[in-house]
Amino acid sequence: MKEAPKLNITKSLQIYEEACKLVPGGVLGARRPMDFIQGEYPIFLESGKGCRLTDVDGNEFVDFMCGYGPIILGYREEEVDDAVIKQIKEKGFCFSLTQPFQNYLAKRLIELVPSAEMSIFLKTGSDATTASVRIARAYTGKIKIMRCGYHGWHDWCVEMKGGIPKKLYEDVFEFQYNNLDQLEELMKTHGPETAAIIMTPFGHPNHEKMQEPAPGFLEGVRELADKYGAVLVYDEIRTGFRLRMGGAQELYGITPDLTVLGKAIANGYPISVVTGKKEIMSVASGKLFISSTFFPNSEGFVAALKTIEVLERDKVLEDIWGKGERFIKDIQALLEKYPVGAELSGIAPMFYITFERDEKGLYKDKRRDFYTQLIRRGFFFSPYHHAYICYRHTEEDLNMTLNAIEESLAYLRSKY
Ligand SMILES: Cc1ncc(COP(=O)(O)O)c(C=O)c1O
Repeated sequence: MKEAPKLNITKSLQIYEEACKLVPGGVLGARRPMDFIQGEYPIFLESGKGCRLTDVDGNEFVDFMCGYGPIILGYREEEVDDAVIKQIKEKGFCFSLTQPFQNYLAKRLIELVPSAEMSIFLKTGSDATTASVRIARAYTGKIKIMRCGYHGWHDWCVEMKGGIPKKLYEDVFEFQYNNLDQLEELMKTHGPETAAIIMTPFGHPNHEKMQEPAPGFLEGVRELADKYGAVLVYDEIRTGFRLRMGGAQELYGITPDLTVLGKAIANGYPISVVTGKKEIMSVASGKLFISSTFFPNSEGFVAALKTIEVLERDKVLEDIWGKGERFIKDIQALLEKYPVGAELSGIAPMFYITFERDEKGLYKDKRRDFYTQLIRRGFFFSPYHHAYICYRHTEEDLNMTLNAIEESLAYLRSKY
């Protein structure tokens, strides 16, 4: 199988060169060229529609990043955008007081999310995970935190510790997904001082294979939290409104005390949530201060309410699971047909193709070549992050993607 020709990304590179003089690193966080494949991926985008992206050089891609998770329907989803635009034009969206949408959304969450009784609304996922930890600490009067998964960029949990005094994270301990023994050991030592166990209920560790809960894992964590009186927080920033409307807690049948939502709940508009037991959430009314100028802005509420309406009316999650199940089954068949060390993990709405690790580090070359072939063919995946399926991916898009995956695997087989 021949190599696909390199994309023309001249304009992206020019803008990036200028950006490096204006913004440290050119772009922030997990959007830098090194977070994809340098010299192969575009750096700046022009537009998106449905499941497609167009970069500043005019290259078009079928996208599987979904904006790192918020896009559950599609880019420029008219019903959601129209609702927000109407609100902005006819009523306005940024005031010193809150608009009643807050109550409407809080009520919808009670209907949808098993753990929801009372909610607070913020903007980003990091806002919400941090607020959940503060609420748990205020409620229990304890300090220590057990955590599992990525929870954002704030001081207590970010991986890169530059600029953060140790005292801000020294009471936070990490455990591995599906490693109940490790958490049990940690709790033996720190349990009585532990305010919260915060975890992603579905395993999606950075850069690694995804994992469903092993039998007894979520139940075991729930028991440990109860045994030591710690607040169990599910970080459902990626899984909320994606695995089920009620998140992974609905799918796996374990109810946490608090839940954190963000990303997909408003199809791209900024809003995040901490929701949970009334008794615990109530501390947010007195003991602590959670406030930010933009938290009450109504565009996120309006978008979330409309997104929920569309998700339910059009049975979007059923559609995503249906086409996604077939798609990942076909990917698995291709990986077996071309045994080049590629591995599939995850479930229909979110999945990841990684490469089996070897001592020589050949897997890194294979990963680079595989994702290079895909982006050159017009399929936007990340080598370092799992993929998502959204509503606007059609069967035809997925079939085209399967062809590109097959060609990329065939290329790898001829090279390695
Ligand atoms: C599981 C999880 N929690 C929290 C966050 C932080 O969310 P945000 O990037 O909106 O601050 C993310 C972001 O990727 C996430 O995936």
